[in-house]
Amino acid sequence: MPEIMKGLKDVYFDNTEASFIDGDVGKLLYRGYSIHDLAEKSTFEEVVYLLLYGELPSQSELTDFDAKLRANRRIPDQVIEVLNLVQNSHPMDALRTGISALSAFDEDVTDNSPEATIRKGIRLTAMGPTLVAAHHRLRQGLEPVAPNPDLNHAGNFLYMLFDEMPDEETVKLLDVDFILHAEHGANASAFGARVAASTLSDLHSAVTTGVGVLKGPWHGGAAEEVMRMALDIGQPENAEEYCRNILDNGGRIMGFGHRVYKAEDPRARHLRERSKALGEKMGQPKWFEILTYLEENVMSKYRDRGIFVNVDFFAGSIYYLLGIPDDLFISIFALGRIPGWTLQCLEQFDDNILIRPLLEYTGGMDLEYTPIESR
Ligand code: ACO
Repeated sequence: MPEIMKGLKDVYFDNTEASFIDGDVGKLLYRGYSIHDLAEKSTFEEVVYLLLYGELPSQSELTDFDAKLRANRRIPDQVIEVLNLVQNSHPMDALRTGISALSAFDEDVTDNSPEATIRKGIRLTAMGPTLVAAHHRLRQGLEPVAPNPDLNHAGNFLYMLFDEMPDEETVKLLDVDFILHAEHGANASAFGARVAASTLSDLHSAVTTGVGVLKGPWHGGAAEEVMRMALDIGQPENAEEYCRNILDNGGRIMGFGHRVYKAEDPRARHLRERSKALGEKMGQPKWFEILTYLEENVMSKYRDRGIFVNVDFFAGSIYYLLGIPDDLFISIFALGRIPGWTLQCLEQFDDNILIRPLLEYTGGMDLEYTPIESR
């Protein structure tokens, strides 16, 4: 009997230089650099450069790269028409459709060379926020807002979403959030993207796959569920009973647990501090109090089983306080992750092997086929 590695848990299927994760101590490096340094000292644009090219840029390299991102934000009118047609769909479905539609207008679509893959990764990174913001405007019956080249990546996204200039603090908050979501090894969506790349399909197909895989509540969908839970709980004193009902019925508390981290997810720290500060600033400390109550009183008992908060736990409260509707939360995660999916595809193309595991068959054998009229 073959040994079955269900969920491919603990299976190494390739090498990577993208990120290092030590789940036992909660350590995460992008291209060798600590996530804490990047979250505190870098910018999303710089992190995208680091991921795609493997090194931190010089000032002039960063300036050129940033200009490239800004110049590639516009999406074709035909893609806006497609978004308009699917305006009633979930924002993640619209993003998936939009990325798919962009392939029709990308001159490099079938070129899987590293140069073309990087060019496409830059375009998809730059256009992703335009897709999400345009769909959000269209579904409210509003005109999409054109990208503003004077704003950085995070600022321009907020501007296109709300049609008003964002303040610096909010822009920095979203910039950090994008950095924290940019890359994370062989997580389910990156694995999906690599499977697509391994067939020598193209980056648009791989990123479309990544978006589809990320959507699930056991992956990127958790932030949306966490905030819904906090709203349902309403007050910290209700948290214990609310969670007890879920846990006693075999349910899971969203935003806790991780396949790899058996200590605290190192990304959570940056969002915890920012969720607290933002709640206080907005005069709504209640959400942070509810989340902290869950973390410190309800789920603390699960720590010896390796269940701690993950990156999604505090993210939802930040988006909520920024006035972002809850069904956009996963899309924000996806926008941050496009560079990571691109890098995973670059690595896959670089030393490709078709990813094709086996399933142990447990069904019937050699059954006799009976004609339909005799069944
Ligand atoms: N709440 C309660 N119990 C949990 C939770 C949770 N959030 N997470 C895991 N457990 C329990 C499971 O019920 C299981 O218990 P059992 O052994 O008694 O059956 C045990 O811990 C191990 O769980 P598994 O599902 O085997 O662990 P796995 O590594 O496969 O799960 C996962 C990882 C899917 C993320 C899980 O922790 C979960 O469902 N969390 C909630 C959803 C979530 O927050 N997802 C976001 C993950 S981060 C990200 O993708 C960006």
